Amino acid sequence: MTENDFLSRTNSKTVENGSVTWQSPSNIALVKYWGKKENQVPANPSVSFTLDHCKTTTTLKFHKRESPAAKDEEFDFEFYFEGKKKEDFKPKISTFFKRIENYCPYLREYHLEISSENSFPHSSGIASSASGMSALALCLMSLEKEFDPEITNEYFNKKASFLARLGSGSACRSIEGSLIEWGEHADLSDSSDLYAIKYPYKVDAVFQKFQDTILLVDKGQKQVSSTVGHNLMHGHPFAEARFQQAHDNLHNLKPIFATGDLNAFMNLVESEALTLHAMMMSSNPYFILMKPNTMEIINKIWEFREATALPVCFTLDAGANVHVLYPEKNKVEILEFIKNELVAYCENGQYICDQIGNGAKKL
Ligand code: DP6
Repeated sequence: MTENDFLSRTNSKTVENGSVTWQSPSNIALVKYWGKKENQVPANPSVSFTLDHCKTTTTLKFHKRESPAAKDEEFDFEFYFEGKKKEDFKPKISTFFKRIENYCPYLREYHLEISSENSFPHSSGIASSASGMSALALCLMSLEKEFDPEITNEYFNKKASFLARLGSGSACRSIEGSLIEWGEHADLSDSSDLYAIKYPYKVDAVFQKFQDTILLVDKGQKQVSSTVGHNLMHGHPFAEARFQQAHDNLHNLKPIFATGDLNAFMNLVESEALTLHAMMMSSNPYFILMKPNTMEIINKIWEFREATALPVCFTLDAGANVHVLYPEKNKVEILEFIKNELVAYCENGQYICDQIGNGAKKL
């Protein structure tokens, strides 16, 4: 499919007003998206587990205006976060609306009231852009479906992923569950830079209900925004090798997913996480986003794995928090280890127990 397939068809129905609510999860990348081209096109393919408990709930109320907002006017919307009007979140949503307006021309025809809340603390350092932008994209698709009830579920999800990507790249991987791929890759003929797809090959049962315990090491403001971060890959001395490595890792994951080879899985996932941070350390300007406690946790995980041979590994986002990944069948002993040995390194002892989920839900 190309961008043109996502242009809206002419409205056959008039919709005066209404309301819709979606709940959409966050996701955690195993092969990382880091680096992008114009129009939110990723520099390399990525793959992620959709999460279950970390999610954003968004309600969109729409009311038809007497006449559409003119092209040079602002979009007509209000944004509420956890019940309070938030002016400072509006520019990000405005940018999103500008990027998608060709695909959602109806945006100018409505007064929109967007109300969002997260299941996780806002200042936890957990990126809410994936769950937030995907929830909003899904709400817009529900509005679009009111004009055009013939839209199939497949098109609905694809276009929701396409729109979410234009809000935040990783958000396109938050529409469905449970293992999601985004970005063109030679092994996946249906893969696209424009939207994410469900990983189409065999996935061993061990990866179902995989656990992700998120250790909140540093809840502070992000030191580097994702836009600045992705830009660091332009002219980065190792960029091409890194992009190739992501292609290779996705290729290498195919037999790992199929057979449930946990040792190979842990090796690849940890290498991806450390490479992401290595890219930030070796760019200019350079950043170290790990904190001393991030390193303490990583070392503890390695010692524990060495001593017990239990399949537990970590991954990182562009921040200091650690995602501890392990199969459900080892949950009891690994959670015990986390509580006894790792929680001490979390800010205020805070952590979130999550697991692989099935994607967004309409409420
Ligand atoms: C490190 O999706 O937040 O989490 O497209 O600029 O909104 P934008 O970036 P964003 O980048 C996420 C980067 C990452 C890795 C990943 O999720 O693949």
